[in-house]
This record gives sequence, C-alpha cells and structure tokens, in this order.
Amino acid sequence: MPEALAHAEDLAAFVAASPSSYHAAAEVALRLTDAGFTALDEHEAWPAPAGGRFLVVRDGAVLAWVVPERATPATPVRIFGAHSDSPGFKLKPQPTTGSLGWLQAGVEIYGGPLLNSWLDRELRLAGRLVLDDGSAVLAATGPLLRLPQLAIHLDREVNDHLALNKQSQTQPVWGLGDAESADILGELAADAGVDAARIRGYDIVTADAAPGVVFGRDDVFLAAGRLDDLASVHAGAVALAAAADGYDAGHIAVLAVFDHEEVGSGTRSGAAGPFLADVLERIQLGLGADRDAQLRSQAASWCVSSDVGHAVHPNYAEKHDPVVRPRLGSGPLLKINANQRYATDGVGAAAWHGWCAEAGVVSQEFVSNNTVPCGSTIGPITATRLGIRTVDVGIPILSMHSARELAGVSDLLDLARVAEVYFRG
Ligand code: CO
Repeated sequence: MPEALAHAEDLAAFVAASPSSYHAAAEVALRLTDAGFTALDEHEAWPAPAGGRFLVVRDGAVLAWVVPERATPATPVRIFGAHSDSPGFKLKPQPTTGSLGWLQAGVEIYGGPLLNSWLDRELRLAGRLVLDDGSAVLAATGPLLRLPQLAIHLDREVNDHLALNKQSQTQPVWGLGDAESADILGELAADAGVDAARIRGYDIVTADAAPGVVFGRDDVFLAAGRLDDLASVHAGAVALAAAADGYDAGHIAVLAVFDHEEVGSGTRSGAAGPFLADVLERIQLGLGADRDAQLRSQAASWCVSSDVGHAVHPNYAEKHDPVVRPRLGSGPLLKINANQRYATDGVGAAAWHGWCAEAGVVSQEFVSNNTVPCGSTIGPITATRLGIRTVDVGIPILSMHSARELAGVSDLLDLARVAEVYFRG
C-alpha cells in the first residue's frame, strides 16, 4: 500500500502541474526527458531510431517511444494511448466581461462537464498564449475565478431541479470593478512573464484550483480534477520511463497522448488526426521500412487504449449492468461494448488478461446497462485509422466529468504495473 499511496500522491502532483492539455503534454515531456528521452522537433530530420528513446510534442498531444537495439523494419509497436484534455470551460474571444460591478470571464463550454460540479469552487485559468512572433508560452494562474451558486433563499425549489443556463449562468467572476479597465489575459501574461500586448492568440481553459487529496478509511480514495484521463496519461508515462531502462523487447514501446478526446478527437492533435500514423511512419522509415514492412509491423502491433470507466455507484445501482459491477480498489477495467464503442474483442480480452496475470494484477470488466448509452474513447478511432488490434481499458471512477473525480488509490498503481509489463513484453 505505501507504494500505491506514493503513486497516487505523484498523480496528484502531475494533475496540479497539468491544468491544461498543453501543460500535460509538457509535463510528460519533462518527466521523460528526465528519464533520458530526447525531445524531437517535427520540423527536423530525426536520428536513427534503433536503441533510442524519443518524444515529440504537438500542441496538447505528446508521443514518446523506446526502440530496441535489435529493431528491424518490420518490428511491431505496442501503443499505450490516453488523452490529455478534460471537460470544462474555455475562454471565448473578448473574454474580459462583467456587470453590476463584477469582473467576469466569457467562457464557452468544452465537452460535456457536469456543470453543477463547477459551482462554488475556486478555478485556475491555464493553457497557452501565442505571441506576436508566433511563439507559444504556457501560462497558468493560481485560484482566480469562481462560479457562485445562487443562494437557496432566491430559489427555494433548487434542490428539486438544478438546471443552469449554459450561457447566462456559466460566466465566472474573477474580481470587482469595471471590465473596461481590466484584462483577464493580463493575469495569464503576468504568470508567463510576457507583455500582454504581445498576445495574438490563446487556448485557455479552466481547472479546479484545489490539489488532489487521498482520503477515506485506510486512504483508499483519491479525489482530483482531470483524472479523466490524466490517471492514464500518468500511468503510461511512469510505465514507459520504467520500461525504458535496459529495454530489450521484440517491439517498439509507444506512449500516445492525444488532445481533444472530449470533443470527438477530430483535430491535428486528436486521435482521429494523423499524428500517431505520421510518427509511426517516421520511426519505420528510420528503420529502413518499405510499405510491406510497415504493414507487417502494423499487423503484429497492439494498442492498449486507456481511459476512465464507471465504477458501480451505490446510490444508483440501477444505472449499471446487474451482473458486471466494477468497484473502486478492485483493479483496472477491461471495457467491452457490443456496438464497438470500445474496441475490445475476445482476442484483446485474452491478451489483456495475460498482461494482468504477468503483472500480478486482478482486472475487472465494464459493460453498460442496455438502457444506458455507452460512452466511447480513442480506442475505436485509432483502431479504425491504423488497423492495429486494440483493447480498451482504464481505471474505474465515480463522478466522471465532474470538476473533481473520484478514483481508487490501488487501481492507479495497478494500471501502471500492467502498462509496464505490456511495454516490456
Ligand atoms: Co476520457
């Protein structure tokens, strides 16, 4: 248990360092650079891959890989995929607004947040500022904003029907005064140490300002923002760094962290874009592959797509399958859906159970109740794009898409352990 606690505390630190997808990609890059990985630039020619460990960041996405010394043009890959974004709010154009003596921020809803969970908590702003010379800098404020809930005295029926207008009732406050004399981007510029007048563009989201906390009897729970899907990103990065030492597998180990999963993945840095395919091709070309070798490599490759899944909720048991009931603390999930919202099939299930057994980890299964539509993730998208056999997994959580989600401490380390066994082969 001490090791699982340390892993959970490290994840909480990772979440605090990763308030936006851009920060998450940079934090993965920082940790892997510390573990001996070389950061590559997509604009440059890349060194010969055999025997190396590399990473490349594209916007809020990052790919990292370890190539065995004996790699050939047809050596397969083992991808561990996850996503760097979470539902919440994103700054609109002309974001400094206000009324009635309050400063407010103009925000758009990003993805599918549980809106009520964002009320009455202090929020940070975080993301990237793009400057007049085209360069981008990361910026993040401390606690700056809050969406104050209306007092119960002014809406006596609120507990029967809380519903927020997605425009008029989701604009957070961040100060007092007159919007004409304020500039919310200036708060970010100050953090980044740049002149606000140089900002030409920005991609800025909100994040819960409170750090993650381990709690509950015997410290079994971790509550934190962005566990969907930073729990998987963190597990994959920890596992890849561990597996890279003395790496001698018969495949190339790849960590693939995509942005924009919560809005459908259809972007340059999302799983439906060409980022992974392009990087795999560059690695394979570096190994001397022709098209035939590439296709042979892909035919023997695997993708483990890791994203959070629903644990059984004690107050809403009827929402879950009556038989398959995953619990916090009982191991990572194998996610199954007949309609292929998850890419897992029988072959993938068998492989997953094998990796879990080798890691000494007990796995659970997730399947939806037939009356409740199933979510999806990057697994079916990468499988469709690349034709690589894919299995969807993750950790069980409650409060998915809340500003602050709930995970089981032991599941987090279990996922990292299986990922390391999978990478090592
Ligand atoms: Co997710």
